[in-house]
Amino acid sequence: MKGCLVVSMYVVEGGRTLSGEVRVQGSKNSTLPILAASLLCCGESVLFNCPRLSDVDATLSILRYIGCSARREGDTLIVDTASVTRNVIPSGLMHRMRSSIIFLGAMIARFDRVKMSFPGGCELGPRPIDLHLNALREMGVAISEEHGELDCCISDRLHGAKIALTVPSVGATENIMIAAATADGTTVISNAAREPEITDLADYLTACGAKISGAGESTVIIDGVKRLHPATHAIIPDRIVAATLMSAAAVTGSDIRFTSIIPSHLESVLPVFRDCGCEIEMISGGGMVFRSPYRLQSPRLIRTMPYPGFPTDAQAPLMSAAAVADGLTVFVENMFESRYSHVSELCRLGADIRVEGRVAVVDGVRRLLSAHVRARDLRGAAALVVAALSARGKSEIEGVEYLERGYEDFELVLSALGAEMKKV
Ligand code: UD1
Repeated sequence: MKGCLVVSMYVVEGGRTLSGEVRVQGSKNSTLPILAASLLCCGESVLFNCPRLSDVDATLSILRYIGCSARREGDTLIVDTASVTRNVIPSGLMHRMRSSIIFLGAMIARFDRVKMSFPGGCELGPRPIDLHLNALREMGVAISEEHGELDCCISDRLHGAKIALTVPSVGATENIMIAAATADGTTVISNAAREPEITDLADYLTACGAKISGAGESTVIIDGVKRLHPATHAIIPDRIVAATLMSAAAVTGSDIRFTSIIPSHLESVLPVFRDCGCEIEMISGGGMVFRSPYRLQSPRLIRTMPYPGFPTDAQAPLMSAAAVADGLTVFVENMFESRYSHVSELCRLGADIRVEGRVAVVDGVRRLLSAHVRARDLRGAAALVVAALSARGKSEIEGVEYLERGYEDFELVLSALGAEMKKV
């Protein structure tokens, strides 16, 4: 109907115990930069384990707009970047998510001139892109910023540079790696981000013929090659979705078996669940059994840090677990200024949480109560679902569109484990 806005929400009947086996989806934060990097390959890349998410769709829309083709077969994406006809990304496409800035490095590696607007994204406080722009300037790109638009051009060739990041930014590290892969000479990134998604991007680029060493460490060295070729690559499992599902198991006193996780990617997360009293057993040949106690213990202190520290993306779901744990938990959010939008909604569900700047103090209660709540960002939405699973009664959660940016068929995944949850 014209002029009629259709809003979905989740309805969750809390208090059900979960059980069974779950396969964790592919990583959103790997899929997005790898799709952008596929632009450098001028041919057909085959990417396995790509989750169905609105952020992935937004990335594919950009690729299609600039002339590439992409099709999905199950969880495999086949992307053909042989023909690229446009060097402009309009604001409507850039505004759908912040990660669209990842196209800057890839586009400038393919065109002498590129125009795009500033990216959009979840409201997590200021999310500048100065590190991306400064690095590309050092690599020979002239960038002017006017009226929310970036106009970038290379007078000669993109060249390697020594780039010292003041913050180990994930997106900036990825943008530099992509741009440097076919630049003239060597690029050295110091204070690079070390996230597993950086290593996954390096693995894909290496399969395409790039020469990269040190990915996953603080210094990444990229020796530019003349051209890349298409490749086949399997995306790593999503460690944040795994942490969210563990939080869901923890708050419902459930035992779940995970079939596709990489334990080393969860090294800062698993000890927190152990502190809560959960038992975690690795299964030889892959997988993990996660067992939760009747009542969680408070994990006491959670400080978000760049990898390998505790991930900011897991802060919100873990806060829902802390909300029903026995004792006080102090959260310190060091990565983003405004990442507590879920707190007021958790309090509507009966949580006892006080926020002062970057610190949130959670006094665990025995039981949350059902309520109508509204998500305002992706991980906050996941936290509200986790909390509603443990609450007594029927909760309604608005803001499904945020959750669908990062969680594939979340209601189906949780329902298959025994949750009573549906999208209406
Ligand atoms: C990525 C992840 C996001 C995660 C975040 C931190 C993707 C698609 N998204 O986001 O889920 O929450 O890492 O782990 O991978 N900064 C600057 N200037 C810049 C860039 C960043 O000051 O040019 C600051 C940011 O404001 C923030 C910090 O650096 O405080 C980390 O941000 P960054 O690592 O860049 O996050 P994203 O790559 O956007």
